[in-house]
Amino acid sequence: MNHPISFVGAGPGAPDLLTLRAAERIRHADVLIWTDSLVSPEIAALAKGDCLQVRTSRLTLEEVVPQLIEHHRAGRHVVRLHDGDTALYSAINEQICALNDENIPVEVVPGISAYQAAAAGLGSELTTPGLVQTIVLSRAGGRTGIPEREQLHHLASLRASLCLYLSARHVEEVQTTLLEHYPGDTPVAVGYRVGWPDQLLEVVPLNEMVEFTQRHDLIRTTLYVISPALNRSTSRSRLYSPDHDHLFRPKR
Ligand SMILES: C[S@@+](CC[C@H](N)C(=O)[O-])C[C@H]1O[C@@H](n2cnc3c(N)ncnc32)[C@H](O)[C@@H]1O
Repeated sequence: MNHPISFVGAGPGAPDLLTLRAAERIRHADVLIWTDSLVSPEIAALAKGDCLQVRTSRLTLEEVVPQLIEHHRAGRHVVRLHDGDTALYSAINEQICALNDENIPVEVVPGISAYQAAAAGLGSELTTPGLVQTIVLSRAGGRTGIPEREQLHHLASLRASLCLYLSARHVEEVQTTLLEHYPGDTPVAVGYRVGWPDQLLEVVPLNEMVEFTQRHDLIRTTLYVISPALNRSTSRSRLYSPDHDHLFRPKR
């Protein structure tokens, strides 16, 4: 039986941030169809020498899907490689729906998302007891319709750790909206190509978000993490507290 088509999350950039399963699928692919605008060529280079590689940055869905189908039907193991994690802004749904219509089996292999790589790169946790216990993953504006209930001003009113993808082009309106809810000195991690050799990852106060973005000319592959948790705090989780017993550490 043919191998299902593998939709694989490539992580943020560095090949050693691939999961073992993702690396295995890439190494065994006969055909690698990859998002070359966002996935590192170093990752695509893990494929075998005779693997057919197709770059998708200039292709439409109507051009990608027939290739997935054709190569799968020819008995080849097809790997469709997307950046970061497959659950966020990867556009795998429409591909999988088209394959379901053709009764072609698929599997999905998750990856590390850009927000996780940014937090790790800063040596930070985005949840702090008593301060922030929620992480919101979203985007601002753009051509993809955002429902009214998810507009930025609603999300910002939570004052949670807010990770904004695909938003650098809208940074001026983003900063203005955020300042209506978060204090101006709230830390904002700005990550450009996190995990790549030319990574830029810095924390700036919210009221300098626009200036920093424009000074570094950031338009693409930029992530913002607006989070009170990026201020180092000594407050601690109860998980490792001596007076907190649980299933694995009963009362002593
Ligand atoms: C189409 S979305 C895909 C997101 C991806 N699925 C993920 O989980 O990270 C592309 C956006 O993700 C963010 N992004 C992806 N990789 C990144 C990286 N290495 N550094 C910073 N931002 C990144 C940027 O906001 C970029 O515009």
